Amino acid sequence: MSSADTLAAAARLIARARRCAVLTGAGVSAESGVPTFRDAQTGLWSRFDPAQLASPEGFRADPPLVWRWYAWRRELVARAVPNAGHLALARAGGRFEQFALVTQNVDGLHARAGSRDVIELHGNILRTKCFAECGVRYEDAAALPAGEPPRCPSCGSWLRPDVVWFGEVLDPAVLARAEEAASACDLMLVVGTSGLVYPAAGLPALARRYGARVLVVNPNESELDDLADVVVRAPAAVALPALLPADAT
Ligand code: APR
Ligand code: ZN
Repeated sequence: MSSADTLAAAARLIARARRCAVLTGAGVSAESGVPTFRDAQTGLWSRFDPAQLASPEGFRADPPLVWRWYAWRRELVARAVPNAGHLALARAGGRFEQFALVTQNVDGLHARAGSRDVIELHGNILRTKCFAECGVRYEDAAALPAGEPPRCPSCGSWLRPDVVWFGEVLDPAVLARAEEAASACDLMLVVGTSGLVYPAAGLPALARRYGARVLVVNPNESELDDLADVVVRAPAAVALPALLPADAT
């Protein structure tokens, strides 16, 4: 847990900021019961390695296996509810002149907490698209054709989750929005990410190069601690409501 001094220093950074960009990772959803990617390798699925489940090669090798794994994760996410950290970020926008929320998470919990215009770097598990990229896309899994996995009604290819898999590049337009937010902010708040996966992990350094302060919230050490002005060692659902209280807009 962080000391009172650290929390006060973090609160000062927030009070002085006018343009805030936030980067979140799996840790912000941990207290909603959504396992991180590596935690998800438990139980039934522990004998599969991530590259087998979350890569184009893995999908090509066994589409039903990958489809079932994502169906299981979608159910898990559907049962989860946004926590106090998501909610604090959803109401934080109003206190800054500019605010952007960038996430690596695919669980959609920021939007369910009320955040608008979330920049989802790695896609969204609830959306589905054509594996052949013919343009077919579903916002809601309930609207999908039947099957395991379903076939694209337009081109006959498989349908797949609309997320960024290992070995795939991020949507350039989405990445550009995130980079714009990072270079325009004067405070970058980094919550619940290990800082291991690029290009997302490069955003705090980009913000820093453009003169922003960096505030990290993470109960554990992360790769981004070294470039932070202040590190709050606490879980997101504890630290964020304390740093961004409801009555201080
Ligand atoms: N509050 C804040 N942070 C937490 C909490 C919590 N309650 N619990 C854990 N964390 C932190 C961990 O200490 C760790 O630093 O969340 C981080 C989770 O790290 P990762 O599992 O590596 O998640 P993330 O950084 O989002 O991974 C990036 O990698 O697997 C791919 O595409 C996937 O988007 C994901 C990307
Ligand atoms: Zn298609």
